[in-house]
Amino acid sequence: MYFIANWKMYGDLKTLNSLDKVIKFSKDNRKNKFKIVYCPPNTLIRPLSKRLIKTKIEVGAQNCHESENSGAHTGQVNSKMLRNVGAKYVILGHSENRQIGETDSLINSKIKSSIKSGLKIIFCIGETLKERRSKKTNQTLSLQIKKGLKSIKNKSNIIIAYEPVWSIGTGLIPKSEDLIKSIKFIKKKFGKKSPKILYGGSVNNISISQLKKISVIDGFLIGGASQDSKKFIDIIKKTYI
Ligand code: PGA
Repeated sequence: MYFIANWKMYGDLKTLNSLDKVIKFSKDNRKNKFKIVYCPPNTLIRPLSKRLIKTKIEVGAQNCHESENSGAHTGQVNSKMLRNVGAKYVILGHSENRQIGETDSLINSKIKSSIKSGLKIIFCIGETLKERRSKKTNQTLSLQIKKGLKSIKNKSNIIIAYEPVWSIGTGLIPKSEDLIKSIKFIKKKFGKKSPKILYGGSVNNISISQLKKISVIDGFLIGGASQDSKKFIDIIKKTYI
């Protein structure tokens, strides 16, 4: 099971102290088969990965430029640079970036360059409320997968995060039966070699009681609740109780 923390644009050097609890929890539970990955803002990737040396917790980024080569791109960071400072993962296609203009084809280029740089990709897909209401969920998911993963043959470094846009940061989660249907639909798209499929959107220490019962889910992408170490640990604990 994956527990991936998406810190979004939160956190500073001081915040990292709060991770000591999670480091201890991870060390005390080495035998459990869960994988914790922290995706902080880029400013914290290096200090965080230094702090996590000798732990099983890994670090990821939240986005990157589409070229793995250096270039005249003010304000941008590429996948190679992220790898260089300790990131092993990168979140791509998050709806907060799609909403500000990131297209499927741009996401596809980012995925390709991140694969070349040796990062694992957490590829986010999900329908808006409007699409869900007009029964276009499957159509949206299909298109995002098709365009986002266009001409990528080796998908072994790809993890899918199914995040219904309407459930991100809202406290709303899909009904279990709907969620199972969507995850199965995604898995079916890949046939026998399905990547791991995570769920994201309002995962917290309360909603986890419902979500953990859904056996087709391979883990969680956690936003808001991951910034509080106690809540984050609670989510992991509750998954296994
Ligand atoms: P949330 O965010 O857990 O705060 O809903 C999830 C995400 O944006 O990945």
